[in-house]
Formats: sequence, C-alpha cells, structure tokens
Amino acid sequence: MIYSRIVGTGSYLPHNAVTNADLERRMDTSDEWIRSRTGIRQRYLAQEGETSSSLALEASRAAIASAGIDAGEIDLIIVATSTPDYIFPSTACLLQAKLGIKGCPAFDVQAVCSGFVYALSTADMFIRSGQHRCALVVGAEVFSRILDWNDRGTCVLFGDGAGAVILKADQKPGIIASALHADGAHVGILSVPGSICNGRVTGDPFLRMDGPAVFKFAVRVLDEVARETLGKCGLQVGDVDWLIPHQANLRILESTAKRLGLPPEKLIVTVDMHGNTSAASVPLALDTAVRDGRIRSGHKVMLQAVGGGFTWGAALVQM
Ligand code: UT7
Repeated sequence: MIYSRIVGTGSYLPHNAVTNADLERRMDTSDEWIRSRTGIRQRYLAQEGETSSSLALEASRAAIASAGIDAGEIDLIIVATSTPDYIFPSTACLLQAKLGIKGCPAFDVQAVCSGFVYALSTADMFIRSGQHRCALVVGAEVFSRILDWNDRGTCVLFGDGAGAVILKADQKPGIIASALHADGAHVGILSVPGSICNGRVTGDPFLRMDGPAVFKFAVRVLDEVARETLGKCGLQVGDVDWLIPHQANLRILESTAKRLGLPPEKLIVTVDMHGNTSAASVPLALDTAVRDGRIRSGHKVMLQAVGGGFTWGAALVQM
C-alpha cells in the first residue's frame, strides 16, 4: 500500500508588518475592536513586485530545505491560491520555473480559504495512485490586492503570506483521511464578484463578505467535517494531538475546538500574528508549530478549512 507523508514544511511572510495601531491611523477602527472580534494583532502586506508566486517560492525553498531533498526530486506541484499572479499561466507553473524544475505537472487549485486542504488531498490521491512520489503543495496569497481599503468590515481581517509542504510516498500513512465539500448555493456571502472582460474589469473586483453569516457557517461545517474525517479512519477526537483550523478568526477557532471537545491547549493559533491569509493560513500555522517544536514526529494533526464557494474540508495527518 502506498501512502503520502509530509516530510518538510516551510512558510514565508512579507516584511511589511501592519499593526492594528497602524490601521487606526488610516481608518475608523480600533485595536480594541479588531482584537476582541477577531484576535488579530497584525498582518503582513506584500510590497510592490511581491506576488503569490514570489511568496510561494520562499515558502517552497524553506519546505525543500526542511525535507532535505533536492528540488529536482519534486514530480508534482500544486498551488492553492485565489490571488494568482496572472489569469494564466498558473501560479504553479510560474513557481515551477522559479524553482528551476522542468517537466512535472503543475497546476493551481482554486478553493479560496480551503485551497490548501483541497490541494493536499489532491496531491495525496496522486501519490497514493502510484503516479507521483514527491509533491510540493503550497498555499500562497496576496489578499491585500483584492481588499477594499475603504471597507473596514473586511480590510482589517486579511493579510498576505505563503506556506508549503513536501509530500512524499511512504509505506506508513501520513495523510490518514481527508474529506472535501462544496456548496455553491452560498456564493453570495463571500465573493469577489468581478471579472476581466474586453480589457476592463467588469463587476466588483473587491472581496465582499457577510461576516456574521460566514461565521455561523464556518463553525458548523468545521465541526462536522472534523468528525466526518475521524469517522473515515475509525479514530476519536481524543486521538487528535493538534487542531489547525483555517486561521480566520480566533473566536471561530475557539468555538470549533470547544464544539469538538478539544482542550484549548491542542489548538494552534497564528491568526493573531498574520491575520487571515486564506489558502496560506493552514500551512503557515502548521510550519510555525513544527518549527517551534509543538508538533513532533508521530503526532496526529487535524487540518481543516472553510472558505468562499462555499468550500470546506479536513485532513487528518500523522507527522
Ligand atoms: O476566510 C473566510 C472566512 N471568513 C471568516 O471566517 C470571517 C467570519 N466572520 C467574522 O469573523 C466576523 O463576523 C467579523 C469579524 C467579520 C465581524 O464580527 P461581528 O462580531 O460579526 O461584527 P458585525 O459584522 O456584526 O459588526 C458589528 C459592528 C458594526 O457596527 P454596528 O452596526 O453594530 O454599529 C460594524 O459597523 O462592528 C462594526 N465594525 C467595525 N468597527 C470597528 C465592523 N468592522 C469594524 C472595524 N472597526 N474594522
């Protein structure tokens, strides 16, 4: 039996840190409101010239180094992003060229904040089928480019960044089980409803969100999908060493852990440090907790995400 296993992690944040106090000077908001409603203290914003592929490149280099592999071993690249550099080619192809790799398949996955969990699960299938042996899976975003900086209800929530993992074929399970879902009926509560047509932007090019509706939806499906994933492999909530939900809002993270009956010490929180980085948030949190020594070899980690679409999913991973 072939399984896939995470053998290296990496992440990258742009250098430009923007604190809540910085935002207070730019708009009608307050550090107190942002911290108490979301837990966010700061976010990092890409500088001019930084793109999803350039952030992905740094995160990928860190993941490759931590896996101790040569980039040439990578035979599959999947990038989860909703803020690609171009309409085409894909950000994965741009990343492939930047890494100096040729020939292997490279493609993007568009599932907004669930993108990394979708990409990881997809790479797992490719490896378990025996077609590929070493995948680079990345979540990379520059959400600052699709925010309406006059809409305080959304712009304070998001940041830019990237996270990556190297997934290798192994005889022991790394990805133990996963579950993916979508329901396009909820398109209206979170979207960027614009497009490019005949050389012009048509519709609205900024992120629009009904925050309270998203909040309620997220808490419900994160609980359901974690239980579904555990059910697929016959494990219990008590078997989970660490919970890494999509880092959108501290209140959503804490409610999810509580509904699942997991103690708060098992919850990995990084949203305070970088805001909601969409598809980058789960691998950023994973890399942080691997590097600070909390997540160790053998630990079981529940990765889960929810985002525009609506999409949601989870993957139970043994490190
Ligand atoms: O990655 C995709 C997933 N996205 C999410 O998970 C986001 C989910 N939703 C949320 O996290 C929360 O709903 C928010 C953080 C977006 C909003 O928190 P809330 O407690 O649901 O607040 P609200 O939208 O109901 O707004 C409450 C008040 C309003 O004022 P009034 O009408 O009560 O006077 C807003 O105008 O807070 C006001 N407000 C702000 N005040 C200061 C909204 N944004 C701000 C702001 N600063 N930045």
